[in-house]
Amino acid sequence: MLSIKTTEASAILKVRLDILRKGMTLDDCHFSGDNDPESIHFAALDSDQIIGCCTLTVNPQSVINDSYYQLRGMAVLEDYQGSGIGQKLLHAAESKLIELGKNVLWFNARTSAVGFYQKYGYQVLGKEFEIEGVGPHYKMYKTIP
Ligand SMILES: CC(C)(COP(=O)(O)OP(=O)(O)OC[C@H]1O[C@@H](n2cnc3c(N)ncnc32)[C@H](O)[C@@H]1OP(=O)(O)O)[C@@H](O)C(=O)NCCC(=O)NCCS
Repeated sequence: MLSIKTTEASAILKVRLDILRKGMTLDDCHFSGDNDPESIHFAALDSDQIIGCCTLTVNPQSVINDSYYQLRGMAVLEDYQGSGIGQKLLHAAESKLIELGKNVLWFNARTSAVGFYQKYGYQVLGKEFEIEGVGPHYKMYKTIP
């Protein structure tokens, strides 16, 4: 039975490691702002097992009007990819944003995931850039209707 819940950063480090920081250590999977009281961590669960995650962290961008939260660490375990879990996590993050009275979400998307976010109305801003040790990215954002 699939569900999406908010959780602690420590609970989702293993999924970050398996999908976003392969070959590194759990210590490499902490993001700045993880323990900020305004950060919100989401876990997708299959029964009790965490199979996907994402995080909202306060990080306004001057180039994106009304931006406040950045989406970080969107990941779904390989065996579960392509079954709608990423979409559910993104939807949960957007719903929380609206609940908090914020309606702009931005993030640095891996180039390989740009098409996923475009499906849900996110736009690319600017040129492709490299995040050292991770790979090519695009800045993306959306004003949530
Ligand atoms: C990108 C990711 C989060 C998507 O989650 P997912 O659960 O696999 O995606 P979903 O099953 O919810 O897909 C929803 C839709 O997006 C499409 N989609 C999924 N990943 C895609 C991608 N990388 N590029 C283009 N479209 C994609 C699916 O085909 C599906 O389309 P459909 O509704 O027309 O069938 C997941 O594949 C993942 O963890 N990838 C590796 C890590 C990564 O790149 N994270 C993002 C960092 S910015």
